[in-house]
Amino acid sequence: MRRGMAAALVLGLGVLAGCGSGSGGSGAGGEKVVRIGLIAPLTGDVKTFGESTKNGFELALEQAGHKAGDFSIEYFIQDDRNDPTEALNIATKLITEQKVHALVGSVSSKVTIPVSNVANEHRVVHITGTATNPAVTVDDKGNRKPFVFRACFIDPFQGQVAAKFALETLGARTAAVLYDKGNDYSVGLAENFRRHFEAGGGQVVAWEAYALADTDFSAILSKVADAKPDLLYLPDYYQKVSLIGKQARAKGITATMMGGDGWDSAELDFATMAGGYFTNHYSPEDTRPEVQKFVADYQAKYGTVPDALAALAYDATNILLEGIRRSNTSDPDQIRQAIQNLKGFSAVSGQISFDENGNPVKSAAILQVQADKTTRFIASVNP
Ligand code: PHE
Repeated sequence: MRRGMAAALVLGLGVLAGCGSGSGGSGAGGEKVVRIGLIAPLTGDVKTFGESTKNGFELALEQAGHKAGDFSIEYFIQDDRNDPTEALNIATKLITEQKVHALVGSVSSKVTIPVSNVANEHRVVHITGTATNPAVTVDDKGNRKPFVFRACFIDPFQGQVAAKFALETLGARTAAVLYDKGNDYSVGLAENFRRHFEAGGGQVVAWEAYALADTDFSAILSKVADAKPDLLYLPDYYQKVSLIGKQARAKGITATMMGGDGWDSAELDFATMAGGYFTNHYSPEDTRPEVQKFVADYQAKYGTVPDALAALAYDATNILLEGIRRSNTSDPDQIRQAIQNLKGFSAVSGQISFDENGNPVKSAAILQVQADKTTRFIASVNP
């Protein structure tokens, strides 16, 4: 591997290899280097999330010529399999052995929360494109983790948008909510949806938890069938919601299905979920020039329409590169201050300025699943 060049290390089984540059931000030849680690689920139950994330990350670096300011970028890509323990180990190794200055990722909240803690403790900049649970940037005492940012909105907003759309646009009065009790994202989104749905006059007539390993939902779906809700809210990832959706329809449940960003995958069961709605971070149909350029560039490189994961990883990486450019340093403390101070940074998923908790304030898109394996843009909702 050539020193000073982009060093992409994608290794199996979570093994990490070094990439031959010095520490402290300069390479052996005195060259200025910033090292970035990407952590993403490249295998496992949400692997399309990881693949899109890696694509978005690499496109952003490529377009920047693997440089930011006076610094060359070296990068390391690691697979966390959507496993929190694996992610924690990888993050620790990237920080202590590869001496990265910044981490991008991971995707899901339950995996990203432990990564954010170790990054913040070691004073390494951390930005996730996609993890929407509030606890990513704020600790359990409510204190900001100052080195941590995200490129996405958070679940209190996403749940509110879904509840409002269900009540006002779909005219739903009753809802059933099924969620994964071991998944921070699923629990948080379920609770936020319920709070806003009830506050708006709706009634949650079934509230049922399941576990990640569950595959047979007949017991809880019988309760849903008895409750005859207008809406079935499924705040989980594409594999699980496809399975639940299929079993719900087989039980004769005709409720409109709705969910969150976790539905966004080419591997969603489009035939089953067609007609359902989900809240998301962007629509490839958006006519803003930033969006159209990104969609064209991504399609030229990868041959597919980018999903929100790709867009947000691209945005997160560009935010980090902009922080490095503006501070023109490899010092994580100065990079994170430059990121915190960005105002109206023009990203694919919106104009980014960070609030005091490292969260961008931006709108959500509501998309409808189509049987032809596409999604239709329905509405954009502002905070
Ligand atoms: N928001 C999800 C989480 O926090 C991850 C996700 C984002 C999934 C965007 C799909 C699209 O776990």
